[in-house]
Amino acid sequence: MGQMIPDLTPAGLKGLKRNGVSNKPQHSQAFTDKVIAATGPEAHPRLAEIMPSLIRHLHGFAREVNLTVAEWMTAVEFINECGKISNDRRNETQLLCDIVGLESLVDEITSKMLATSSLETPSAILGPFYRHDSPLLPNGSSIIQKLDPSDSWYEQAMADSAYITGRVLSSSGAPIQGAIVEVWQSAPNGLYEQQDESQPEMNLRGRFATDADGHYAFYALRPVPYPIPDDGPAGRFLRLLDRHPYRPGHIHFIVSAHGFRALTTQLYDDRDEYIAKDAVFAVKDELVVKFVPRDGDRTARWTLEYDFVLGRE
Ligand code: DHB
Ligand code: FE
Repeated sequence: MGQMIPDLTPAGLKGLKRNGVSNKPQHSQAFTDKVIAATGPEAHPRLAEIMPSLIRHLHGFAREVNLTVAEWMTAVEFINECGKISNDRRNETQLLCDIVGLESLVDEITSKMLATSSLETPSAILGPFYRHDSPLLPNGSSIIQKLDPSDSWYEQAMADSAYITGRVLSSSGAPIQGAIVEVWQSAPNGLYEQQDESQPEMNLRGRFATDADGHYAFYALRPVPYPIPDDGPAGRFLRLLDRHPYRPGHIHFIVSAHGFRALTTQLYDDRDEYIAKDAVFAVKDELVVKFVPRDGDRTARWTLEYDFVLGRE
């Protein structure tokens, strides 16, 4: 017998089987189910729980937008680029999550799951500029480490210096003694100290322990709006989306105490024009505060009073 000649007419092609594998289009639901079913019985339990949903959404997204190979590869390279530019002073992948609202959403889900009382101070995202081991300072001292009149931000710092004080309370209203109020903020040039060689180590960062009445107090700056780092892939992405990179001025806090859940949050200045258009969608109404003029204190032009309410662990 001679070699079989394949039948290449349309009728013949229809019957063609490739090595016995079904030629169903890959974008069928059965394909998605097959990928989901590949997870084995010994899989990590939380992964086994969440991967079916992730795979369904990923596949659904690709189908919905007719994602091409070229577009998918562009996204892979983009994520790789975010990883490569990240280090212990810069977290580009986190930034990418933030500009699509993911850190804010996850923060909200987590705090709602753990909350034991509606009176607790709402949380807000940690953001990429937290550093461990900031100095423990006496109540009433300043987190501004350098006030040299030759500094570029001296004048603005003096014009907008603020005394920030309040109490740390449980949701029953009882003061919490020995709570730690950890604070960090950017300089008036919009840069956190680790982004800026002109600032001393740990500038504008500190931790304060509450006294017997639950009080904390420190000197800081009224915060200014500034762009999130937009000189990398996340910034390029924002420009492709015709979006601005600004966050409203804010002060970061982590408030913690024995027996209570640590609260990560931010306070926002109500005068800020970016309150309603935060590039990372982290503002909550309850966290918008009013700085009021302060008399008789050469060290501060403004006072801010704010009480933090912690939930039980
Ligand atoms: C982000 C958060 C911040 O607090 C900040 O100062 C800069 C960026 C962010 O979520 O990406
Ligand atoms: Fe910040």
